[in-house]
Amino acid sequence: MNSFTFFHPTRIIFGKDVENQAGQEARKYGTRVLLHYGGGSIKQSGLYDRVTASLREAGLEWRELGGVQPNPRLSLVKEGISLCREFAADIILAVGGGSVIDSAKAIAAGVMYDGDVWDFYSGGAFPQKALPVGVVLTISAAGSEASNSSVITNEDGWYKFGLSADCLRPVFSLCNPQLTCTVPPYQTACGIADMLAHVMERYFTPQRDVDVTDRMCEALMIAIIENGRRVMADPNSYEARAEIMWAGTVAHNDIVGVGRSGDWSSHRIEHELSAIYDIAHGAGLAIVFPAWMKHVYKHDIPRFKQFAERVFEVTAGSDEEVALEGIARLESFFREIGLPVTLSEAGIPHDRLDEMAKKCAWRSADVGNYVKLTEDTVRQVLELAK
Ligand code: NZQ
Ligand code: ZN
Repeated sequence: MNSFTFFHPTRIIFGKDVENQAGQEARKYGTRVLLHYGGGSIKQSGLYDRVTASLREAGLEWRELGGVQPNPRLSLVKEGISLCREFAADIILAVGGGSVIDSAKAIAAGVMYDGDVWDFYSGGAFPQKALPVGVVLTISAAGSEASNSSVITNEDGWYKFGLSADCLRPVFSLCNPQLTCTVPPYQTACGIADMLAHVMERYFTPQRDVDVTDRMCEALMIAIIENGRRVMADPNSYEARAEIMWAGTVAHNDIVGVGRSGDWSSHRIEHELSAIYDIAHGAGLAIVFPAWMKHVYKHDIPRFKQFAERVFEVTAGSDEEVALEGIARLESFFREIGLPVTLSEAGIPHDRLDEMAKKCAWRSADVGNYVKLTEDTVRQVLELAK
């Protein structure tokens, strides 16, 4: 097992009606709040009114910046940085999903930096400090409510890059599963695929002797699959929504990633898809992950066999047959919850695979840790995703 430091400062406040605590939690960090949100779902659901009432009750002043798009854009981040400076915001309150939270994190780091915030994403600089970010979570998916990451799309060239830094972990996250009952079925399914992918990225590791985290990953994957089915069948079930919400957080706060290095090439490849085609991240992963598995499984058949046996209860066949059956069952699970598993099924043409492979491998010689991919082999994964 690798040596590790696990730093998780986010206060998670979980349960019914917790969004009404937004004001009192934000008040701990100052009196001036930037309220950041997306395309309008929070106004339709009435959440906006409840959150602003809570800010008012706590005696806070706020400015608003809505309009975050899925696959959040750099231009809005820059607007947010100017607004925060002008208003001297003490804290950013992100009300939404991964896109809103990631945009808030980018603003939080950018406010403290004299240069171009994109430097943090392109690798030209690293953020040492950021404004505090608080969260009211509305969708179970990206896990940004407790992760140290932010993923931003630069419209100039359509580059989608991630940044990970301790100062980006939210200071609190208010997680009310009831709020996710209005998430449409397709987005719910995308979230399930994303959280499953977050566990799988960590599960397929070059480290041996990581039994505790292996078993935690397997339990989490089984729970996501079972409760994913439940939530798709009964979208208003508080119990199923609660399981999925907590799973999304645990899948990506890195508790199941300690002591091992994850792979992350499927995420890198998917970011190329969503950068160019603006597809939902989870749907992109449902396409890329099985293709990646088909490309790499021969490298470590025992691990793929363990995945198939323990997560999907595959029993019959040779080691290789069991490994392949695990991949097939993952693919059929994605199909069952309504996701595309090929580029064609998502309506994505095949004429820019070279470009995506090139952009994916552009920043570093290798993509991934479990099996190191190059531009050529990323291209082969995309070929398998056709
Ligand atoms: O914009 P609004 O109106 O809020 O609508 C959103 C959006 O259209 C809607 N939605 C959210 N909550 C809702 C709702 N609709 C009805 N009722 C609700 N309660 O759902 C749509 C998708 O929202 P988005 O925030 O984009 O979803 P998600 O949480 O999946 O975030 C995706 C982004 O996170 C990044 C992805 O790449 C993508 O850009 N990721 C961030 C990570 C991180 N920071 O740690 C890790 C992930 O691997 C991922 O890369
Ligand atoms: Zn993801």
